[in-house]
Amino acid sequence: MEVIIRSDGVAIATIVADTISSLLTRKPDAVLGLATGSSPLAVYDELARRYEGGRLSFSRARAFMLDEYVGLAAEHPERYRNVIEKEIVSRVDFAPDAVQGPDGLAEDLPAACAAYEQAIIDAGGVDLQLLGIGTDGHIAFNEPGSSLASRTRIKTLTEQTRADNARFFDDIEQVPRHCLTQGLATIMSAKHLVLVATGRGKAEAIHRMAEGGVSAMWPASILQHHPHVSVLVDDAAASRLQLAGYYRQTYASKPEWQGL
Ligand code: GLP
Repeated sequence: MEVIIRSDGVAIATIVADTISSLLTRKPDAVLGLATGSSPLAVYDELARRYEGGRLSFSRARAFMLDEYVGLAAEHPERYRNVIEKEIVSRVDFAPDAVQGPDGLAEDLPAACAAYEQAIIDAGGVDLQLLGIGTDGHIAFNEPGSSLASRTRIKTLTEQTRADNARFFDDIEQVPRHCLTQGLATIMSAKHLVLVATGRGKAEAIHRMAEGGVSAMWPASILQHHPHVSVLVDDAAASRLQLAGYYRQTYASKPEWQGL
């Protein structure tokens, strides 16, 4: 796991956008994993800017979303499909139907989850998965206690996550109680995982993820078992890291050719 500490979200977004740009140059039909939440927004802004400037195209790329609320109406602005559409898909040139998410409105939710797993496999797997992290260490919606071997399935949100996400709704009662989420093993199947986190509220989760024991209590800690993980954090999110000095030193002397 490579931990990179930068001063702010914009500096982080530049590095992540460089990585996605170089992937799409190398492999224009790459499969991207898109995350919701506020953490990746600066990355999406930077990708949209590069697309507008003619420096980047998603025309042959495909993308899979991490998760979705169960039961939010198709037109609800906080439905993750709509959030992703607004924040990135509508701003660049993905082909119609190139972006998929789990169907939180399916009548048969387990069947929708199985179909989603199959769709990812049929696409050849995810090349680069963007991730945020919850304050309780969840990735996608894999809450504490999630099986480290889990696949896409229905989950119940913790009260902590519902409270964290209430800012996007009129009040907490409107935050759904259930979601569909890629499992931890689904996420671990992606070739490159890129996790971004900013702010002091994420500091404990980042420390547990990178430096704690691997445990379902801190679901993101499973990333310690992945061979290619890049974690980009600002100074505040890095504030509990024991090896912060080492990570800074390593990045300062990182060879130019290496990329993430
Ligand atoms: C949400 C999403 C996650 C996201 C996390 C952090 O619940 N399901 O994919 O990483 O919370 O969100 P934020 O980036 O807004 O802090």
